[in-house]
Amino acid sequence: MKKASIIFLTVISCFGLLGLTQCTKDKTPVPPEPCDPNKVYFQNDVLPIVSSGCAKSGCHDATSKVEGLNLSNYEGIMEIVKPGNPGDSEIMEVITDSDPNKRMPPAPAPALSQEQIDKISKWISQGALNNYCLADTGACTTGTVSYSKDITDILSNCQSCHSGTSPSGGINLSNHAGVKTVGDNGKLYNAVAQNGQAQAMPPAPSTKLPSCDISKIKSWVDAGCPNN
Ligand code: HEC
Repeated sequence: MKKASIIFLTVISCFGLLGLTQCTKDKTPVPPEPCDPNKVYFQNDVLPIVSSGCAKSGCHDATSKVEGLNLSNYEGIMEIVKPGNPGDSEIMEVITDSDPNKRMPPAPAPALSQEQIDKISKWISQGALNNYCLADTGACTTGTVSYSKDITDILSNCQSCHSGTSPSGGINLSNHAGVKTVGDNGKLYNAVAQNGQAQAMPPAPSTKLPSCDISKIKSWVDAGCPNN
């Protein structure tokens, strides 16, 4: 079955057969995505607030479970959450209660900050998913790679050997002309890609450059090694 039709059938069965609540209450973790500043993520944002404030020994941790509530994981927290509806979610009621003895976490612990309360509320409004994001994924932009901003930075650790009066292999990587020489003859990319067509760089025991850096070098070499 094609992916599109699977998605279509899933949507239909969620809305048609089970009803919207079943669909939004789905407990399956959502695969990680690059962090979107407009979204609140359960694993990154909500769980740390709730577990540090509430999932403590003697309260709502996995062992104590006061009032049967284990607030140390998603399933437990969802017991007091109505996805899409913060106003109807017990968690919002208890964290905003003005009576310090009824409020959670109870006095003498301080109340959650307004910022923390807003985060939880926004997460519920956004569907209360068991979601998670990764900072920096997709941050590899190889569009216009700049010599002065990107390449010099990537090659800074190469200069311990490739600069000065007698650079290793006669290759000076501390100025544009020197880098362009090995860029143009293909050795720079072949060395860092460690593809067997040049001496692998940086030499062992150093590890290969991160793949994003290698892609940036390729993009800059393909653009003709500009001094930009
Ligand atoms: C520990 C010292 C050292 C470091 C660090 C180092 N190199 Fe080298 N590099 C050498 C030596 C030595 C040679 C000469 C190898 C030879 O000719 O057999 C060389 C050769 C090269 C060559 C020519 C390869 C060939 O097959 O002709 C390139 C290109 C190069 N290095 C790029 C780099 C880059 C890019 C880095 C950083 C990512 C780097 N090197 C880090 C020591 C180093």
